[in-house]
Amino acid sequence: MSLPAPTDLPAWKALAAHRERIAATTIGDLFAADATRGERMHAEGAGLFLDYSKNRVTDETLRLLVTLARETGLEARREAMFSGEKINLTENRAVLHVALRAPEGATINVDGENVVPAVHAVLKAMGAFADTVRSGAWRGASGKRIKTIVNIGIGGSDLGPVMAYEALRHYSDRSLTCRFVSNVDGTDFAEAVVDLDPAETLFIISSKTFTTLETMANAQTARAWILAGMGGDAAVVARHFVAVSTNAAKVAEFGIDTANMFGFWDWVGGRYSLDSAIGLSTMIAIGPQNFASLLGGFRAMDEHFRTAPLEQNLPVLMGLLAVLYTDFFGAQSIAVLPYEQYLKRFPAYLQQLTMESNGKSVRLDGQPVTCSTGPVYWGEPGTNGQHSFYQLIHQGTHLIPCDFLGFNRSHNQLGRHHDYLISNVFAQAEALAFGKSAEEVRAEGTPEWLVPHRVFAGNRPSNVIMADILDPATLGALVALYEHAVFTQGAVWGINCFDQWGVELGKQLAQKIICELESPTEPKLKHDSSTNALIRRYRARRAK
Ligand code: F6P
Repeated sequence: MSLPAPTDLPAWKALAAHRERIAATTIGDLFAADATRGERMHAEGAGLFLDYSKNRVTDETLRLLVTLARETGLEARREAMFSGEKINLTENRAVLHVALRAPEGATINVDGENVVPAVHAVLKAMGAFADTVRSGAWRGASGKRIKTIVNIGIGGSDLGPVMAYEALRHYSDRSLTCRFVSNVDGTDFAEAVVDLDPAETLFIISSKTFTTLETMANAQTARAWILAGMGGDAAVVARHFVAVSTNAAKVAEFGIDTANMFGFWDWVGGRYSLDSAIGLSTMIAIGPQNFASLLGGFRAMDEHFRTAPLEQNLPVLMGLLAVLYTDFFGAQSIAVLPYEQYLKRFPAYLQQLTMESNGKSVRLDGQPVTCSTGPVYWGEPGTNGQHSFYQLIHQGTHLIPCDFLGFNRSHNQLGRHHDYLISNVFAQAEALAFGKSAEEVRAEGTPEWLVPHRVFAGNRPSNVIMADILDPATLGALVALYEHAVFTQGAVWGINCFDQWGVELGKQLAQKIICELESPTEPKLKHDSSTNALIRRYRARRAK
């Protein structure tokens, strides 16, 4: 196949010329020229409200961005995804996280087979299992009720579950606790179980492939920990371990009864799997009903993405704005700033979703890209970030577009806290956009030598995304918003958002180095001189 480079398309060239024309126009100028801008430039969908007025865009910029989306074939690619075509070309797979939240009765075919009934069968099995754990009917091998669920997984098999557990704590059964072990660093496991009773602990081994080194190492350690704590009889494993995987053979090999395995499919990417069986810990924590609401929120955003006009389509607008800043303004990162403590792990979750998806430098046809792709996504919850890195966003030399996330209501309405919190969302977006001029600083009586230090140039773009309250449906909509924004970016850049070959090389080298580190005799090292020296030094100094 051969694809036109997006940079060769008429809309790209028109955008480049347009960018020159608007170079000197500030966000302040745009607001001054149009009294209705703040009310006009918003979009709504699936319970989310997006104010994108504080961006460096005119109506013409938006028209050109939408034209670019059309010229790059976004709509056809979107349809191809929703209809189960194998758009993940390098792995010859369909990309159907949208099928995970399709209503029962929908039809989505992969290789001629409707996958929706299987999705709902797994959801029902998960629901039945979650209910038995929540009700106490599921007991550990000694007859004790399960109190702690430990999810062992990494990447997409960890970040989604831990993010959602934290985000939906308000909805969780407080007599149960979920913990998450991901890192192969033994400290992660040791600290997670330090105060747990094996008799009351259930492990969920979550791994799409069931071969990931970190997860398998932690799973073996967990098995040993359970056996040591419960008398050493391998029969206890069945009451303390369940698995979530696509690989039944490996699950059985590990010793987990495949009756206690919850499956998913190769058309679910790891970073898109929160709403598959990978969400089992979330479902146990919040219950099947709330999990269904979470899926409902995803589905509402899917519908919006599929049907809303591109000009009013939240993920499309956010994806295109990211392209604009990345390719026409030289921005290298985007900050995501949730003003909601429950979303404290959302930026970490987004790091994988965005960067494992769009950190690519070849297009789908194997040709090198001719533009910048995948910005770095990062962030921290507000207001904490304000007292840490916002200095750089306000007065530094990098342009960092920001997504502010806020909610009209809090689950913890304590005195004036929520108004304080949300006043900061609006204040930060206003300060970034409009800044503070030297005249304003002088008018406050600031001595002249201090004036340059206290000036805020402004003209720094942001989106403000608001919703009523962080409930399961809203979380689903928010995650799907970013999933589809990432898809929009990838479609414009002509890259495959759904493979991750870039993580392979390090994995392969580590396998080789493990043998060298553990070799009882001095290994013959054939790495570069730095790697050789590091291995020798570690071998000489490590704890024996
Ligand atoms: O190494 C990257 C990766 O493949 C991610 O894409 C994935 O989410 C993670 O590893 C975990 O993979 P698995 O669920 O197969 O253990």
